[in-house]
Amino acid sequence: MKKRRTLLSGIQPSGDLLLGSYFGAIKNWAELAGEYDCFFFIADMHAITVRQNPADLRRRTLQQLAQYIACGIDPETCALFVQSHVSEHAELAWALGCCTMFGELQRMTQFKEKSAKNSENVNAGLFTYPVLMAADILLYQADLVPVGEDQKQHLELTRDIAQRFNGLCGDVFTIPEPYIPKTGARIMSLQDPGNKMSKSDSAAGASVYLLDSPDAVMRAFRRAVTDSGSDIRYDPAGKPGVSNLMQIYSAATGKSFGEIEVEFSGKGYGDFKTAVGETVTELLRPIRERTEDLLKNKDYLASIYKSGAAKASERARRTLGKVYKKLGFAEKA
Ligand code: TRP
Repeated sequence: MKKRRTLLSGIQPSGDLLLGSYFGAIKNWAELAGEYDCFFFIADMHAITVRQNPADLRRRTLQQLAQYIACGIDPETCALFVQSHVSEHAELAWALGCCTMFGELQRMTQFKEKSAKNSENVNAGLFTYPVLMAADILLYQADLVPVGEDQKQHLELTRDIAQRFNGLCGDVFTIPEPYIPKTGARIMSLQDPGNKMSKSDSAAGASVYLLDSPDAVMRAFRRAVTDSGSDIRYDPAGKPGVSNLMQIYSAATGKSFGEIEVEFSGKGYGDFKTAVGETVTELLRPIRERTEDLLKNKDYLASIYKSGAAKASERARRTLGKVYKKLGFAEKA
């Protein structure tokens, strides 16, 4: 029997999941999952590169697990786990850090951006973040890694590190391919469509979260910033607000931009915003309800992340064992 290829991805529990986390990530995971051996995790170790409130981090970790399941990831067939529960991530990160160059990490765009934004806490973890991410991926010999556009550079570095290690020590790692979704990958702020919708945006109505109430969702879309003119037309440069709403509507309904233009020809921005709001409300309703149900059953969630970590550890231990042997570490008795 042909071995199934491996798919892996993760999201940091650094804030509540956004509409963009669904369209840009989890929805794709669920669609791809059937064809792959899947590992999906909650990247709590990455989250602490910026300061977190411990109680919030713990709550969001469990909540994110419930949301993965509520969005259609099958915990029976996919390994769902918490990064810090599989200690091999940290161990492999150390080994990989020893074959990553200072200059390579210095060039990472995200490091430059995040250190400018958090100038009071430019810690070493923020700098070596991409090495931990490489470890996440290479531990599982992942073939395919769905990531957002902003993580492409980290994935390229992961490939470089893997190739370097394989070149120095002999083939150990599978070289992963990125999977960058075409649509829905970049949902912009509803208040400032020039910027990506973000977990840290505190402007009212700028961000839509997967757990938002129907009222909050409708309010955010009704208040969404639109552009001058009045027609519904896809033109990201000239009409960033309307184009963003069209992206969202298209991702939620599967309709093309052309079909949407026809559907709303002769109608105004107000009608369109209401339609997008209603569509998103109905999309999120079952996800929110299922998440709330799952969160009432902590024992069930614990059983999922325990068996996910067991499955992940098994694969991770095998890879780490090979790496340690290649590096010349003495065998444990
Ligand atoms: N860095 C990713 C992000 O911020 C999250 C992440 C951590 C990840 N490790 C990963 C994604 C491994 C894919 C594979 O979005």
